[in-house]
Amino acid sequence: MDWGMTNRLSRMIKQSTGRSVMLACDHGYFMGPTSRLENPRKTIEPLLPYADTLSVTRGVLRNGVDPGTDVPILLRVSGGASILKEDLSDESITTSMAEAVRLNAAAVALSIFVGSPHEKESLINLSRLVNEGQEAGMPVVAITAVGKELEKRDAKYLALACRLAAEIGVQVVKTYYCEDFGRVVNGTPVPLVVAGGPKLETEEDVFNLVHSAIADGAVGVDMGRNIWQNDHPVAMIKSIRAIVHENATVKEALQLFSEECRQRLKSSAEI
Ligand code: R5P
Repeated sequence: MDWGMTNRLSRMIKQSTGRSVMLACDHGYFMGPTSRLENPRKTIEPLLPYADTLSVTRGVLRNGVDPGTDVPILLRVSGGASILKEDLSDESITTSMAEAVRLNAAAVALSIFVGSPHEKESLINLSRLVNEGQEAGMPVVAITAVGKELEKRDAKYLALACRLAAEIGVQVVKTYYCEDFGRVVNGTPVPLVVAGGPKLETEEDVFNLVHSAIADGAVGVDMGRNIWQNDHPVAMIKSIRAIVHENATVKEALQLFSEECRQRLKSSAEI
């Protein structure tokens, strides 16, 4: 791998642990003002110090993120469909590689829709992005299955989608955790990170998901709603960091979460 590509990747996936906690705030590109991400700056600012990477579109980056930040940016460059459409797979590349370089992105991200009406277009878009990424030294992250595609969240489907992305030449795949996730990891010869999906019922459910994904071989998470839709988002991201980077157990993460919430309530009462 070329120096620039390797350097960009090593900013996102930490050399010390080989893992990464990415903060996903790109939902607006097809979901609009998602609950608790209505004002992206307000959501992102308190969480940014605990993120190894921030996933956003260029619009949120320019309007909601301080350019003085040293947190690497995973720039979403696909779009073109909204939640109002039955078929979410009709996406194109929305942001050029020159723009990604101008914004000093650490990597670019695009969704693929394997098994959907626009499967071919999404895979060809990914190929184009990888070709351009190779020239620019820009890593490409493929995102498998979003929105309505989540119905297909099983190991057989995700292993297929992740492998297709790896064969096209991406540097990282972002996918969803599922039963028998080891099968997905085994068939994907590049690092995998997992998204969280819609908000789970309890913190324990989230920590279980993260812990299992890491135990099965994911290098980290690119998680959104289960962090910033929680009433204690900073406590959530800090506890997730403990699992990802310090191999904390679910029980330890829950203890850390309670302690963080207690500390925060105490300091807000003292103000
Ligand atoms: C989909 O809109 C994006 O790829 C999100 O970044 C991804 O789904 C991760 O966010 P969440 O953990 O909320 O699913």
